[in-house]
Amino acid sequence: MITHEPNPQYIANPKRYENMSYPKCGKSGLRLPALSLGLWQNFGSVDSLANAKAMLHKAFDLGINHFDLANNYGPSYGSAESTFGQVMASSLLPYRDELLISSKAGYDMWPGPYGDGGSRKYLVSSCDQSLKRTGLEYFDIFYSHRYDPDTPLEETMQALDYIVRSGRALYAGISNYSPVHTKQALRILKELGTPLLIHQNRYSMFERELEEGLTDVFTDEGLGAIVFSPLAQGFLTNKYLTGIPQGSRAARTEQIYLNEDQISQDKIAKVQKLNQLAELRGQSLAQMALAWVLNNSAVTSAIIGASKVEQIEDCVKALDNPDFSDTELASIRSILGE
Ligand SMILES: NC(=O)c1ccc[n+]([C@@H]2O[C@H](COP(=O)([O-])OP(=O)(O)OC[C@H]3O[C@@H](n4cnc5c(N)ncnc54)[C@H](OP(=O)(O)O)[C@@H]3O)[C@@H](O)[C@H]2O)c1
Repeated sequence: MITHEPNPQYIANPKRYENMSYPKCGKSGLRLPALSLGLWQNFGSVDSLANAKAMLHKAFDLGINHFDLANNYGPSYGSAESTFGQVMASSLLPYRDELLISSKAGYDMWPGPYGDGGSRKYLVSSCDQSLKRTGLEYFDIFYSHRYDPDTPLEETMQALDYIVRSGRALYAGISNYSPVHTKQALRILKELGTPLLIHQNRYSMFERELEEGLTDVFTDEGLGAIVFSPLAQGFLTNKYLTGIPQGSRAARTEQIYLNEDQISQDKIAKVQKLNQLAELRGQSLAQMALAWVLNNSAVTSAIIGASKVEQIEDCVKALDNPDFSDTELASIRSILGE
């Protein structure tokens, strides 16, 4: 349930840019924070508004100035954008020009033929709805959330081009596109005159699809890359070492993105060994998992999720020890069975 807490005046930490790094997003002129915050989980209408607000403030205070949304983040659909809009209106609006805010359309959003996929009809109307929910005049990045085999890629890219040209977004992005479709999208958008800024895909020590062709496209084309679920939804932390704690994502019943079956004994054994290695590096496992993802030179930023302020504080400390020795990298490969 959203609770309407009193709104003490928020003043951002004056030292917020001191400890975060801001790599260039591919060959564009835009810099992203090395760590971004996603609002997929824990910012919905079923969650606490006070906690959501505290996490957004803490993230910004620590230099995380990029917040990643999508039309259907919640639950319920759209409610993460509404939550973000409330926090924006009550405290972050004075900082709008310091923030990068993204949203997406591509997956199931509303009933009927225009609430899913990659049509121009869906993308443009969904973008308008997302702007209304967030109260923003424009998004910094708007994504096609997935490749839609039932829509010509030209139409989806024309929709992104239109969204940018009409002032609804500053940059265009794609998410969950294969290397082949990414190359095609790059070419079409280049011809339209709206360059593709960024690709968003899953990437963690446990999920390596990105390395099967996508990183080559990013490097060859100078395309920025932002990766999601770098902690494998919390699995690559010290959280599940001895079972599934109450309140964790795997224990939540209103969503099924991380379930008991995915927390296998084989994977727990790997997590325990990775945790020992992280301790030797003087890091939490979450910090090591984030440093590992950012160690891939094709990656611009990693989008973390969080359910508590303390998790964001813990994650940001990954940047205090970002480098790996060859021996450490070899140990990780061996633990992962490579
Ligand atoms: N484009 C796409 O298709 C797509 C798909 C998925 C996600 N995304 C984006 O990526 C964002 C991040 O995804 P994600 O939430 O799966 O990322 P994640 O960082 O892999 O997982 C976040 C979860 O890990 C746990 N956690 C975080 N920091 C921790 C710490 N320091 N110590 C212990 N546990 C910690 C928390 O779990 P508990 O909740 O259990 O506490 C948190 O909710 C999303 O919000 C969204 O913006 C995009």
